[in-house]
Amino acid sequence: MVGALTEAGRRELASIVEALSPETRGALSREWARAAQFEHASIASFSRFSLELLAVGAPPELIEGAHRAALDEVTHARSSFALASVYAGSPLGPGPLTLGADVFESFELVASVTSAVAEGCINETLAALEAEAGAAAAEPSVVRELLTAVAQDEGEHAALSFRFVRWALELGDSAVRRAAEECAESVVARVKREPVLEGPTDALFARHGRIVGARRRAVRLEALSEVLEPALSDLLRS
Ligand SMILES: [Fe+2]
Ligand SMILES: [Fe+2]
Repeated sequence: MVGALTEAGRRELASIVEALSPETRGALSREWARAAQFEHASIASFSRFSLELLAVGAPPELIEGAHRAALDEVTHARSSFALASVYAGSPLGPGPLTLGADVFESFELVASVTSAVAEGCINETLAALEAEAGAAAAEPSVVRELLTAVAQDEGEHAALSFRFVRWALELGDSAVRRAAEECAESVVARVKREPVLEGPTDALFARHGRIVGARRRAVRLEALSEVLEPALSDLLRS
């Protein structure tokens, strides 16, 4: 769990940010706000996941994990918006989140498993490793500490998703397994095809904890080959 941004942390970052040009501050605040918005949307993903788990009769350990993960995402969003606000020099936060009309439409094991594979197993693992890379590159200690804690949490969220999919594969029929396999294959292929948007600010962003462009692509490809492909093949073979 990530703590809120402390006053000392905020002051440390503000003194670093003061030395940056207005353009750089603006670019970093937008990038941190974009990351914060993803964290904010993840709250909804885990809230929905907790309902899906109830609908499919999942064990309490998984239901508890989904609620804890949603609370972790609240903290990630708040901390990330707090950092974005320091870069911006004015308070930033989320607006209303648009939820699709299908949010409460149906809860079926196949759909729960495919979203767990894509958003949980794959995206949370990628998020964990990107946060780890951001922590390793970041210069302000408050950014490093936040990303280290985020990496730990996202890794736990990925582990929760793997446990759920494992449970669902035991319970479900061959359609569930086929859906999980197809989803894993298509998301992995999509990540491999992601375009690289390399920009002149990539190294600067990395010093402030944001991994973008070619660095991001390298982290994601390494995550696929070193972590995700072996873990998914182990999961789907079981
Ligand atoms: Fe998160
Ligand atoms: Fe997460």
